[in-house]
Amino acid sequence: MLDSGMKILKMRLSLVVLIAALLTGCSKPVKEAAAPALPVPIAEAGSDVISPLPQHVQLDGAQVELGRLLFFDPRLSQDGSVSCAHCHPVSNYGVDSLRVSTGIHGQMDTLNAPTVLNSGFNFRQFWNGRAISLEDQVDGPVNNPLEMGSNWARVVGRLQSDPKLETLAMHAYGRPIDKNVVRSAIATFERSLITPDAPFDRYLRGDQTAISAQAQDGFRLFKQLGCASCHQGMNVGGNMYEKLGVMADFFNGRPLQPADFGLYAATHQEQDKFLFKVPSLRNVAMTAPYFHDGSAATLPEAVDTMARVQLGLTLTKAQNTQIVAFLDSLTGQLPKVQP
Ligand code: HEC
Ligand code: HEC
Repeated sequence: MLDSGMKILKMRLSLVVLIAALLTGCSKPVKEAAAPALPVPIAEAGSDVISPLPQHVQLDGAQVELGRLLFFDPRLSQDGSVSCAHCHPVSNYGVDSLRVSTGIHGQMDTLNAPTVLNSGFNFRQFWNGRAISLEDQVDGPVNNPLEMGSNWARVVGRLQSDPKLETLAMHAYGRPIDKNVVRSAIATFERSLITPDAPFDRYLRGDQTAISAQAQDGFRLFKQLGCASCHQGMNVGGNMYEKLGVMADFFNGRPLQPADFGLYAATHQEQDKFLFKVPSLRNVAMTAPYFHDGSAATLPEAVDTMARVQLGLTLTKAQNTQIVAFLDSLTGQLPKVQP
């Protein structure tokens, strides 16, 4: 009697847990991977806080090829002047090197362009992580009046009249061009944009001479001070949300734009204020200027700001130089892509 009572109680309990899990899982998928607000310093973490990028990724060649053509195709923009590559040139490490991007009619964007290289390894897309996948991300620039200023009906109409693209679409997807074919092909192409064999990855794979002693000291500091509690994993970032300005105000009292509020701009949930995706630091030495607002012109400046606003620390000149040397070692091999 007691036994079966306990059993029922246990069953009820697990049912409650299951329902709770389902509820939290379904109602707010965007928050499921949110990390605690304060970083947990990984003082004695081994080098496995960061793992090397793979040397190859397995993708459908026909889809990559179609995506490559679409990525460089200005017909995705309203006036045919701007392609994805306009703001994300692959040969320039996937960035336009501007403080904020310029879209059609030379309009100023409100944000700095993050790189598309290795973006397939990020758990969400955009500075504030509001796009759940690379496929979803494509809707953003196509419809953004400051970027490509177009819409799917117009884009698909134009592309469908191109026999070469139609043949490729049939080959890669077994159907004519439509919105989802474009989204999928571009996303698949982006997943092919990886930068393997950075000196730091060769170091992780056992080549002790691949990076300088200064860079090794920088990596040690990066872990000891707590940078690696946020920037970690294969992409040295890109796997969690964190607050910008944990220990001090990032904005220095300047007037705030909607995009400065991070994920809140998309969800209007109080707890999402100033929450950003921790960005990947792969190839970061090549992608100045820095931060979502492009406010740091150089890497040493960005590193000092991070130490101050995220960790409440003032770095010595020597520490800054060591960390920058480590970040320099994260520059990998550019993918070979024909425009
Ligand atoms: C006018 C410049 C411009 C154009 C054109 C443009 N982008 Fe972007 N891209 C940006 C900016 C700025 C952001 C950051 C926006 C944000 O976070 O809200 C961004 C963000 C991204 C990201 C997110 C990367 C990350 O780490 O979060 C990807 C992926 C991307 N763009 C791919 C594309 C693709 C694909 C196209 C073409 C369909 C495209 N972009 C067209 C400027 C541009
Ligand atoms: C609490 C989490 C957290 C910690 C700790 C942290 N960062 Fe960041 N880091 C972020 C976030 C979030 C951003 C994005 C800021 C933005 O959108 O403006 C960022 C941005 C950066 C950037 C700019 C990347 C780009 O592409 O513009 C660099 C460089 C950087 N961090 C380096 C560091 C270093 C070095 C440390 C340690 C001294 C550190 N971070 C500590 C969360 C963190």
